[in-house]
Amino acid sequence: MVQLNTEFAGRTYHSPFMNASGVHCGLHKLLDDLVGAEAATYVTKSATVEKRSGNPDPRYYNSDQNSLNSMGLPNEGVEYYLDYVTKDPHSKNRLFSISPMTFYDLPILAEKINASGFDGLIEINLSCPNVVGKPQIGYDFEQMAAYLKAANELFEPHTYGVKLPPYFDFAHFDTVAEILNRYPIAFVNSINSVGNALMIHEQQTAIFPKHGHGGLGGAFIKPIALSNVHAFHQRLNANIEIIGTGGITNGRDAFEHILCGASMVQLGTVLAQKGTGIFKIIENELKAEMAKYGYESIDDFKGKLQYIQENDAISGASH
Ligand code: SIN
Repeated sequence: MVQLNTEFAGRTYHSPFMNASGVHCGLHKLLDDLVGAEAATYVTKSATVEKRSGNPDPRYYNSDQNSLNSMGLPNEGVEYYLDYVTKDPHSKNRLFSISPMTFYDLPILAEKINASGFDGLIEINLSCPNVVGKPQIGYDFEQMAAYLKAANELFEPHTYGVKLPPYFDFAHFDTVAEILNRYPIAFVNSINSVGNALMIHEQQTAIFPKHGHGGLGGAFIKPIALSNVHAFHQRLNANIEIIGTGGITNGRDAFEHILCGASMVQLGTVLAQKGTGIFKIIENELKAEMAKYGYESIDDFKGKLQYIQENDAISGASH
């Protein structure tokens, strides 16, 4: 009998599926939907100290199984989401996402979270590509180290994690893992959207902000997400767990993320396109994929990616 229940950061979940921050989570009623759809859990929209309206429209574009967004962190402010999670009877299993707009916002956000008594997990978003004039912290390793050092002083060990941008170089995987391994972080979420991509509709940019540049999500980015999940699984301390995000449109995609080392997986573009009914569908697809290989639990295949050997034949492959 195939089971999807999984352990993550010392908590138990009935499946590995949740939303990606930013998708279907900006308002209380949307979070209610995620609970109602029986997602394993939810992560709230990355909150800033103050409410933000974000970038001007049009700022989101769907194209087949892909999306481009330059939302610019529209959110209701940290208090609004704290109000929701602290009333949630399952708060310990929830993820609360924050996005400090400056280094000095981090202690302010932490103070509010700690004062609220929230006992769940905190995701520090170091990777939003869409705020004009604010480079992604995840690409500035000195700053990233400073944020991690501060977070370690502000939050209890093993209660916080980071959402990372995609990396494309082994030297960067090594450097980022070395920084993260210094601290008792609970998890890494790889990857945020691939920043500053461009899509064209007819002859115009598909979105307005930043001359059309925005974060790419959906099926296009799965290979990049898989490479990041795999690279961090190889490099991070064994007790740092990984959330796999990027390009998951069906159960097979989730299977591949878990094979690369993800303990949980997040749905972004597919959730925005198909709605919360996707959770049940994708659970069943993952179960079918596991059954195909004779796996009964997530632990049976988590992180067990096999490497093709030199001169191995691969059916259907062309070169
Ligand atoms: C946004 O609000 O611009 C998207 C959030 C993110 O990419 O972190």
